[in-house]
Amino acid sequence: MEYNVDIGVFGGSGFYSFLENVEEVEIDTPYGKPSDKFAIATFEGKKIAFLPRHGKNHQFPPHMINYRANLYAMKQLGVKKILAPTASGSLKPEIKPGDFVVCDQFVDRTSGRKDTFFDGPETKHPSAAHPYCPELRKLAIQAGKDLGITIHEKGTVVVIQGPRFSTVAESRWFSKMGWDVINMTQYPECYLARELGICYVNISLITDYDAGLEGRDDIAPVTEEEVLKVFAQNNEKVKKLLFEVIKRIDLSGDKCKCCC
Ligand code: ADE
Repeated sequence: MEYNVDIGVFGGSGFYSFLENVEEVEIDTPYGKPSDKFAIATFEGKKIAFLPRHGKNHQFPPHMINYRANLYAMKQLGVKKILAPTASGSLKPEIKPGDFVVCDQFVDRTSGRKDTFFDGPETKHPSAAHPYCPELRKLAIQAGKDLGITIHEKGTVVVIQGPRFSTVAESRWFSKMGWDVINMTQYPECYLARELGICYVNISLITDYDAGLEGRDDIAPVTEEEVLKVFAQNNEKVKKLLFEVIKRIDLSGDKCKCCC
């Protein structure tokens, strides 16, 4: 089957549907089943496939997501570019709930996740020095600015194993290391896209201040309810930004070299 999809979009916590007039497509992969059916639709002449990474009913917690199946299915659909919004916590006072961060680096603090397609006999050692697509990052930043959204142009996301949130000590450590935001799904999702030669951008919507901020007793540690509430409050803003980025993606004679 030939779907010739151009752009893939992942949904995350609090973000389970995106497109209208969709065709629902079930995909199987050599790595197993993706988190759910894909919702495929055309927007501005571009074919888009949406997949909620946790499943429509949030049935896969971050450490149980079959990341390889999700990414491989995107590849099978023909996807060349992935937009990956995530709910993320902030590790810095100036990055506030409701803000967006277009991450440029990750730090992997997960464990035991299947995080490569190169298990042998085909062996490769891809560079992860600059894991995000610079072209998509530029587009997302400019689209956010033009829409009047508070968007931070770069940031390091530390990816924890979950499903628990961090202790106060862990959170202080992460912020002292100079890292900016925290979530549970950027690794290995981002890196697996790179292995498959798919451009990938993360758009972090900040939902909380993680375990709190030093010297701010008024900020309580994050809860799951808070993440979902703040994401729901910002859902329309996330969609608006994604549609604006999709409009601006130029698919003609794709020149991006980020995966080469
Ligand atoms: N997702 C949203 N907020 C988070 C946090 N504080 N830690 C980990 N994942 C998150």
